[in-house]
Amino acid sequence: MMHAVFSKNGSKSLIVLGIETSCDETGVAVYDSERGLLADCLYSQVKTHARYGGVIPELASRDHVRKTLPLIREVVEDAGIELADLDGVAYTAGPGLIGALLVGASIGRSLAMGLDVPAIGVHHMEGHLLAPMLEESPPEFPFVALLVSGGHTQLVQVDGIGHYALLGESLDDAAGEAFDKVGKMLGLPYPGGPHVAKLALSGVSGRYKFPRPMTNRPGLDFSFSGLKTFVRNTIAEETDAAGELAPQTRADIAKAFEEAVVATLAIKCRRALEHTGLKTLIIAGGVSANLHLREVLESNMAKVDGRLYYAKPRFCTDNGAMIAYAGCQRLLAGQSNDLAIEAFPRWSLESLPALG
Ligand code: KG4
Ligand code: ZN
Repeated sequence: MMHAVFSKNGSKSLIVLGIETSCDETGVAVYDSERGLLADCLYSQVKTHARYGGVIPELASRDHVRKTLPLIREVVEDAGIELADLDGVAYTAGPGLIGALLVGASIGRSLAMGLDVPAIGVHHMEGHLLAPMLEESPPEFPFVALLVSGGHTQLVQVDGIGHYALLGESLDDAAGEAFDKVGKMLGLPYPGGPHVAKLALSGVSGRYKFPRPMTNRPGLDFSFSGLKTFVRNTIAEETDAAGELAPQTRADIAKAFEEAVVATLAIKCRRALEHTGLKTLIIAGGVSANLHLREVLESNMAKVDGRLYYAKPRFCTDNGAMIAYAGCQRLLAGQSNDLAIEAFPRWSLESLPALG
């Protein structure tokens, strides 16, 4: 649906509420197209799911039901505005867990109807992809985006908002999923990514060398499940008769795994930049918070006179700010959704309408 864009105070600026409930974080934020991010709040369900070693969808939906409205009240107050000042509402409409998505979609769509403002369903990965735009010196289009989250690993050529060409993606596990599974194998809490990264800090480089999957043949797709099996076999070989893995060995395995994932991602990024002729790379999604990944890519980009961009760590993982920002750009362009409450567990990034 297209309509004229007018904010409540008649100016061209828009104040947009963003709601993220696609997985295990309830994220809510207020973004003003003139003044930038006004406030953001996050409730992480990690404690709820930790004892099960992974996200339990029904528990995730119930927690979103409990937390979304209180967080909306909190973020509106933090932003120093009233609900009535909102010019639009953006919510994550997919991809993600259907029950969890429907909580944000129902609340977002209904709130917009009550306030008589437009609502927009945002693609979760577009939210991640645009998160570096929230930083003080944002990247300029066009660029190559490496999206590395718990559910997706994708390389995308981005020529503008909605101008997305998928260059490659994971054929099996996503990078974050591989981190989480290896974390579990090493007896670390859920989600494994940040814990594996922390353990790797005390690991010695070079004791193990794990494979860099799919780098010795052309193409930009990824596969991390073989690497995961390699880690499992190494752990089995190094575990003693009492079932113990020496602390240094655990750290060395975490290090070798992190190095293998980062090297693989870096090789594919270099290829994607060569293939597109672009000099700007952005990384987004939970794994883009990984410091080793940032260091390696930063130094690679410096060598080719290019630039690397990423969001601050709290906007790498799931958050409401990226949804408010992406939704605001689409609302400014006159896009919005009708009254239907819709959510899409699977949704292709390339199917999104282009702006401009
Ligand atoms: O983007 P995100 O918050 O959620 C999804 O959309 O999936 O990404 C979560 C993923 C998890 O797999 C988590 O383990 C991983 O990001 N992650 C990390 C780090 N921080 C979060 N992986 C490696 N190193 C980190 N520092
Ligand atoms: Zn995410």
